[in-house]
Amino acid sequence: MAGKVTFCAFVLVLLSTLAAAISPSARSSTVARRAALENGLGRTPQMGWNSWNHFHRNINEEIIRQIADAMVDTGLAKLGYEYINIDDYGAAYDRDSQLSKWQHNHICRGNLAANASTFPSGVTALADYVHGKGLKLGIYSDAGTRTCGKLMPGSLGYEDQDVKTFASWGIDYLKYDNCNNQGISPQPRYDAMSKALLNSGRNIFFSLCEWGVDDPATWAGGVGNSWRTTGDIKDTWASMTAIADKNDKWASYAGPGGWNDPDMLEVGNGGMTTEEYRSHFSLWALMKAPLLIGCDIHSMSNETKEILSNRNVIAVNQDGLGVQGHKVQQDGEQEVWACPLTGGRFAVVLWNRGSAQASITASWWSIGLNASTVVDAHDLGQMRLYQPCKENWRKQWILMLARCMC
Ligand SMILES: *[C@@H]1O[C@H](CO)[C@@H](O)[C@H](O)[C@H]1NC(C)=O
Ligand SMILES: *[C@@H]1O[C@H](CO)[C@@H](O)[C@H](O)[C@H]1NC(C)=O
Ligand SMILES: *[C@@H]1O[C@H](CO)[C@@H](O)[C@H](O)[C@H]1NC(C)=O
Repeated sequence: MAGKVTFCAFVLVLLSTLAAAISPSARSSTVARRAALENGLGRTPQMGWNSWNHFHRNINEEIIRQIADAMVDTGLAKLGYEYINIDDYGAAYDRDSQLSKWQHNHICRGNLAANASTFPSGVTALADYVHGKGLKLGIYSDAGTRTCGKLMPGSLGYEDQDVKTFASWGIDYLKYDNCNNQGISPQPRYDAMSKALLNSGRNIFFSLCEWGVDDPATWAGGVGNSWRTTGDIKDTWASMTAIADKNDKWASYAGPGGWNDPDMLEVGNGGMTTEEYRSHFSLWALMKAPLLIGCDIHSMSNETKEILSNRNVIAVNQDGLGVQGHKVQQDGEQEVWACPLTGGRFAVVLWNRGSAQASITASWWSIGLNASTVVDAHDLGQMRLYQPCKENWRKQWILMLARCMC
């Protein structure tokens, strides 16, 4: 037991090997690759912000501008967060009265328009503002007749027309929801939007949000840059961890150009403890999930900022190898999640999901290292070298962990 160290219930560790000594089990995690959407976007998981988790329907252009300001002023933009995404409730209830010049199948229909009371300056002006900050603007629509909130038109049957509108506004990202879908299966509805985006003349990131109902990981690689694998996240530990488990099943389908999306971050919204949010952020980073902040970064706490700004954890998410971390070991409530990184490195999460003190033994084999490999280990959550346990780490097979009172 010499060298036994006490840890928090959740820890994200970086292992650096001198040589890349990757076992067959690590390589197998990259096998099930698929065709990627050919728009050159999403080579690493997208990073940014979305209005939904914090503001829900209460959004307006002033809030979006404030968020864009805060993204730059807090230093988050420098760390890679770039998309400012407006979710549901941004548009007016009806299409405008103009007959579209882009119509083909439909007659007598107008274009999507911004809600004139909440976005009085219009979307083009907002896009200019966001672009002026070096950021990108995202928007939301729905592969159905109306969006989920039912106060905006959907884009089903209007794909080409609406994408032309988005492109004319200077939009960079589309989140495409699944409500009021008329019982039509997802694939043709999302395919139609994907084609419209590719033909739009503007490079627009395509984020599918069909909630995982039709196993999008198996078909969405050539359709979009990310696809939701689950229903909506709630700001609770139970919801966040259940979603992580569901997303894990599809790990082998993720890669540069197309990512599994277990929904946006709740870090900073108040429903979990700081430790739980740190775990949430680390897990999302390891799973190569989109890092879309869901709190009000204009008034976030220092703790929230510190979690979202952890460069080492972000680097795991944005690593060029693009392999989604997954659960490699489970022993009751003690789990090990891991992924290989570039440069012969590995990210490992040691996760005691139980409430009692426990030891976690991570086998080198399941992480993807061979038995004789010697590593250096860093705790990325605390941003410090793992000095106290270095001895222990060098006994290659066994890592002794226990829950601490932190
Ligand atoms: C604009 O948004 C407000 C606030 O959500 C809403 O009450 C109003 O009905 C919307 N206007 C239109 C034209 O959709
Ligand atoms: C947050 O950190 C800043 C300095 O980085 C400090 O001035 C401020 O007092 C802190 N706020 C709180 C609530 O701790
Ligand atoms: C294990 O890794 C070491 C060095 O990292 C290497 O010399 C050795 O050949 C590897 N063994 C196997 C079985 O791959």
